[in-house]
Amino acid sequence: MQPHDWIAILDYGSQYSQLIARRIREQHVYCELLRFDTPAATLAARKPAGIILSGGPSSVFEPNAPLGDPKLFDLGLPVLGICYGMQMTAKLLGGHVKPGHSREYGPALIQRTGDAPLFSGLPGELDVWMSHGDQVTTLPPGFASIAGTLTCPIAAMADVQRRLYGLQFHPEVVHTPRGAEILRHFVFDICRCKGDWQMSQFVRESTDAIRRRVGTEHVVCGLSGGVDSSVVAVLLHRALGKQLHCIFVDNGLLRHGEAEQVEKTFSDYGLDLHVSHAQDLFLGRLKGVTDPEQKRKIIGATFIEVFAAEARKLGDIKFLAQGTLYPDVIESLSPLGGPSVTIKSHHNVGGLPPDLKFELIEPVRELFKDEVRELGRELGIPAAIVDRQPFPGPGMAVRVLGEVTAERVAILQQADLRVQEEMLKLPNYRDIWQSFAVLLPVQTVGVMGDGRTYENVAALRVVESRDGMTADWHRVPYDTLARISNRIINEVRGVNRVVFDISSKPPATIEWE
Ligand code: XMP
Repeated sequence: MQPHDWIAILDYGSQYSQLIARRIREQHVYCELLRFDTPAATLAARKPAGIILSGGPSSVFEPNAPLGDPKLFDLGLPVLGICYGMQMTAKLLGGHVKPGHSREYGPALIQRTGDAPLFSGLPGELDVWMSHGDQVTTLPPGFASIAGTLTCPIAAMADVQRRLYGLQFHPEVVHTPRGAEILRHFVFDICRCKGDWQMSQFVRESTDAIRRRVGTEHVVCGLSGGVDSSVVAVLLHRALGKQLHCIFVDNGLLRHGEAEQVEKTFSDYGLDLHVSHAQDLFLGRLKGVTDPEQKRKIIGATFIEVFAAEARKLGDIKFLAQGTLYPDVIESLSPLGGPSVTIKSHHNVGGLPPDLKFELIEPVRELFKDEVRELGRELGIPAAIVDRQPFPGPGMAVRVLGEVTAERVAILQQADLRVQEEMLKLPNYRDIWQSFAVLLPVQTVGVMGDGRTYENVAALRVVESRDGMTADWHRVPYDTLARISNRIINEVRGVNRVVFDISSKPPATIEWE
């Protein structure tokens, strides 16, 4: 989708590339991350209003350094190179870059040395965030230095005539307090974007595009009760009505009341919902299994089997809808690729049997998680679903440590319900990435009334995170901790002790298995 004026961001592998995209979209300007070597001709055909070259971990001196197509500077479009993007600009346009022997990393104060629309209205000195080794020492022809520091005399450069800019620092991070303004100047004053990209427009345009693509065919969509699949289902339903068929597999490993809520909510929407009650099948196959990877594999395979059986009943269906999000798409574009080791195998509807050949339809593949939530609100999906925290596909099975039995799942669901109820009372609930209970395979001694108890331990896990890749434990107020602990121990039969997990990721992961 590329409905309006938009910005192309060429990705050289910086950890901040996604953040640049976020900052641009926050201005209601559409943007996309593209491969670092996207040909100038492709860019010309897609007509962006401007191009941003991201930072990256490489040095332009490395033999295999990712370089952009030099012709992209001849398209007559504004270009902003950030950090590595600036060094590459200088190198490709005839300037000189000096290899750095040490990295300059952290806050710096730059002095403006020239006038340029990029900095209009900003003070003569700016706090910025630097992270670089190499630096530009000779400007390419046509450029002027517009800011510098003692150790980095060319910290920003501009060829105002050709609308080409370079910044040695990172305007996209919060540690560059006026950075958002610099990006705004680029997007609005230099690229002349209008800032008219809105969710209501996204709904209109994507439903039109879905109708055009699907025609009179039918679509099947796996509904998990999570945010992404719920939003995809409602969006597709709006576009296609009865041509959409949803399958919900109740694996018996969901949160308390979740299966009923999913059934009720989506039936109320008038969706063609097929529920497969497969609790016994899943629990039967998990009997006696304690190894986390084994659990995940069993659940993944069983899910596909049940889903496929339901899908076959629907007859001839051409498309399968998936809630792929933008970060999944970006990972495969980066010159560095995605993570190379499997820490935990995730399951989704990949690997369907060969008789079920679907074309994929991924209507939110250009959106970030919080944009999907905004889309959900725009579509009128209840807050209880739109604000739901991420929940792993294998569900409670990776939170009941050790063997998964119906009884232990029920204990965990009850403990987890108390966690949810108390956490929801916090004013900053929406800033918390996940909060949940884990049932440990450990029993401890307690005292209840006059009697000795010997029961389970529940752990509380509450984390802050931007994307689930790294996380820190949330400093939950003591009163909330106390209420959660009291309520679980007093109200949930089978738990006599509650502990709080204070591990960050890495080295710990968010889920315990
Ligand atoms: P970890 O435990 O790897 O989790 O730190 C990172 C994020 O991913 C979620 N998670 C999963 N999501 N299927 C999913 O859809 C899975 O198998 C799965 N395992 C973990 C986890 O809840 C956290 O948000």
